[in-house]
Amino acid sequence: MFISFEGIDGCGKSTQARLLADTLRDGGRDVVLTREPGGSPGAEEIRRLLVQGAGERWSGETEVLLFTAARRDHLERTIRPALDAGRVVITDRFTDSTRVYQGAARGELRDLVDRLHDLAIGIWPDRTFVIDIDPATGLSRGMARGGVEDRFERLGLAFQERLAAGFRELAAAQPDRIRLIDGRGSPDQVAARVRAAL
Ligand code: TYD
Repeated sequence: MFISFEGIDGCGKSTQARLLADTLRDGGRDVVLTREPGGSPGAEEIRRLLVQGAGERWSGETEVLLFTAARRDHLERTIRPALDAGRVVITDRFTDSTRVYQGAARGELRDLVDRLHDLAIGIWPDRTFVIDIDPATGLSRGMARGGVEDRFERLGLAFQERLAAGFRELAAAQPDRIRLIDGRGSPDQVAARVRAAL
């Protein structure tokens, strides 16, 4: 089984990915917990180019290509071998993030994202959970974390609101794969919603 967690910056998806991995491991499953951008040594190197530095560092097209290159390496080195070995793969972000983040910045990039996905990636998760929270809450959590990986968070509240709307639209458009999870409340409350939806 291949599962992804998605949502805006600071929504709590990384915590939820870890809690679901713990639950499935307790149930006897062999789980690989991974993340994007990154999840393999080569993709982690590309990650640094993407999440650090000035907001306008890359054109939208270059950014989509870099995210897709990182994803291809992640797929080859981490996701595919694990699925072939019968393990459960849980990834913190996948192609829906590229659709929403790069598509929110420039709508016409959505088509490029989807075409590159078909050409170079080719698989979708069996189930995707979008952790839905108020963008102002997400942004304050993300900023509170500090650090250098804030290139997207620095784009501000209006951008995070566009992202939240983009994830909700995706969930509405693909209800078979994508479940919108109410991200309010304690981590355990949200985790119970994820388990129920799985
Ligand atoms: P992530 O490590 O998930 O950050 P966080 O834990 O703060 O949510 O992702 C890093 C940033 O990269 C995040 O701001 C979202 C962005 N991103 C994209 O813009 N496109 C993508 O395809 C992916 C995977 C991430």
